[in-house]
Amino acid sequence: MAMRHKTIEISYAECDSIDELTISDAILVRKAREASKNGWAPYSNFHVGAAVILENGVIVTGNNQENAAYPSGLCAERVALFSANANYPDSPIVSMAISAFNKNGLTGQSVKPCGACRQAILESETRFEKPIRLILDGSEAIMVIDGIGNLLPLSFGKESL
Ligand code: THU
Repeated sequence: MAMRHKTIEISYAECDSIDELTISDAILVRKAREASKNGWAPYSNFHVGAAVILENGVIVTGNNQENAAYPSGLCAERVALFSANANYPDSPIVSMAISAFNKNGLTGQSVKPCGACRQAILESETRFEKPIRLILDGSEAIMVIDGIGNLLPLSFGKESL
């Protein structure tokens, strides 16, 4: 039997600077930038901040927490997400902004969440049956993505079990 070739499209919006975002997205990005300052990143010196806004209007932030035993650390996105879900279990997450600073300052390219964080974001979307808007900060480009499906197509989720 012949193989069937398929193509999956993802979509996102991109702008050049924080000034081109909506006011609420810009506020969230500023919170993510601020949160990155408290990241514990003595091993990578890569400071990541994440800020989520919930349907109830609360903003929860997180940052990366590294560990001498490397795999014991956690990314900023999951710190923010788990904190929000732990403290506000009934309020869906509407948007998440992510910013990262290396030794030269804010990264030029927008920062992309790692695979494990994408999976955790998917779980939160599934839990609340609501897509999470992702705002990936960078000094040269900011990406705005409507839902983790655009970053994690062909995902493993509860329907896979
Ligand atoms: N990191 C995050 O916090 N989020 C990402 O999206 C990418 C990576 C952290 C993990 C580690 O502390 C450092 O960045 C370098 O990988």
